[in-house]
Amino acid sequence: MCARMREELLAFVSRRGTLLEPAAVEYLLSQQDPMGPLDRFLASCSEVPFVVTLQDVVRAADLGRNAAIRTRPAVSMSSAVQAATVTLVMPASFHRQGETASDHAPDVKILRDITGRSTCEGTIEDFTRYFRNRFQTLSRMLRSRRELGGTQEISKARRSTREVRFIGMVSDVRATKNGHRILELEDETDRISVLVLADSPSAAETFVMDEVVGIVGKVNDRGLVIAESVVRPDIPVTRPFRGIGEHLRAAFMSDVHVGSTTFLDEKWAKLTTWMSSDDEVARSLRYLVVSGDVVDGIGVYPRQDEELSIDDIYGQYEALSKMMAGLPDHVSVVMIPGNHDAVRPAEPQPALPAPIQKLFDSNITFAGNPSLVSLDGVKVLAYHGRSMDDFVSAIPGMNYHRPLDAMRQMLKMRHLAPIYGGKTPIAPEAEDHLIVEDVPDIFVTGHVHSVGVDTYRGVVLVNSSTWQAQTPYQKMRNIEPLPARLPIVDLASGQAVIKEF
Ligand SMILES: [Fe+2]
Repeated sequence: MCARMREELLAFVSRRGTLLEPAAVEYLLSQQDPMGPLDRFLASCSEVPFVVTLQDVVRAADLGRNAAIRTRPAVSMSSAVQAATVTLVMPASFHRQGETASDHAPDVKILRDITGRSTCEGTIEDFTRYFRNRFQTLSRMLRSRRELGGTQEISKARRSTREVRFIGMVSDVRATKNGHRILELEDETDRISVLVLADSPSAAETFVMDEVVGIVGKVNDRGLVIAESVVRPDIPVTRPFRGIGEHLRAAFMSDVHVGSTTFLDEKWAKLTTWMSSDDEVARSLRYLVVSGDVVDGIGVYPRQDEELSIDDIYGQYEALSKMMAGLPDHVSVVMIPGNHDAVRPAEPQPALPAPIQKLFDSNITFAGNPSLVSLDGVKVLAYHGRSMDDFVSAIPGMNYHRPLDAMRQMLKMRHLAPIYGGKTPIAPEAEDHLIVEDVPDIFVTGHVHSVGVDTYRGVVLVNSSTWQAQTPYQKMRNIEPLPARLPIVDLASGQAVIKEF
């Protein structure tokens, strides 16, 4: 089926007298209607271009998605909803000093996201500028580390006979047959090989392509650096949670996948009932952060139409808007997109477009993916989490059931999606918005349909579950989701709990 589609696509392209970039071929084959975006793009060109790029077809697909206004079926919510039976995992102290969120005006500020600031056109110059920005920003962080005082450029370091300190971007990682590892590192001046011995303190670390690290080591007579230590940008010091004065709370969810036949409408109804109840924790909820894949989308994977209960993108968002309107007024919502949503797939993704935002009540703040958002002064870094696919492939021992491990790695690398050219499409913006510049108070991801809370060096980590049951694809791959769990963080103490519906 896929091979035939590929042949058809390539035949279509050659009939139109142009060529397709390999990445554009793969992208189109992942769409429900591979010819559609291509056709739309070619129709918009005054002359047939020599090569059609990934960027061209992605943009055309986005335009197509945004224009796809068709009939809007009503939401299918279960009418026979019973009161929520809730399994609550909450420490006793979590219940103390509850405040009521309705007494307080919400204070939501978007501190950083790409919305309205995208400049990239996907040219070679854009990529060069993007990687230079990534290298320089992370180098600056690394140079402030005590261990890396007096770093040199690689071209100078390679000629040194004493201890050397330098910073480089990983361009290759390989293991030797004795269990040592060799990193190839690059800066703007040169490239060098670094040997990390199997018995060195950094031996337990796994390094990934395109991350930026600092090295302290010695150059041997063959020009190879023997690393004494490998330093990551990381969060150098653990800080206490910088909370607000009152025990108001924020809840987190993602991967609602409205429009899918596997969306859990009865669980959603239980959540709505509980949120509107007199429960002390429910009444103290002031914010709800929704971290992407808010609807199931259209044409996200082959034959998705067979698994859709709402096959119209506007219909899906309209159904979600009704669900959100059913939540109590004292909860302010912040919503970012994910890889199923109707924005460009390349990260950083802008906020949902205006025609979709208009479907929702005004108490929803739409932001990009990723976004740094302030909730009453508490800094929340929200990222959908597509790069976890790349972390799971690249790092032995990492898996979809332990998303917090990947999140810790992101904070250590100070980058949400370091691996370029994997499953996470990255747009080469002038500034690397995937760098974790400011240390957040709370860091939340979704995407993997698991759930978890923890802390890393004072940052509260949240992975925010899903409202979709196991899909046929997950069943085939033996992935057991953990749906209908709501992580809740006390904004005064940073204490996090998970409430199950
Ligand atoms: Fe996702």
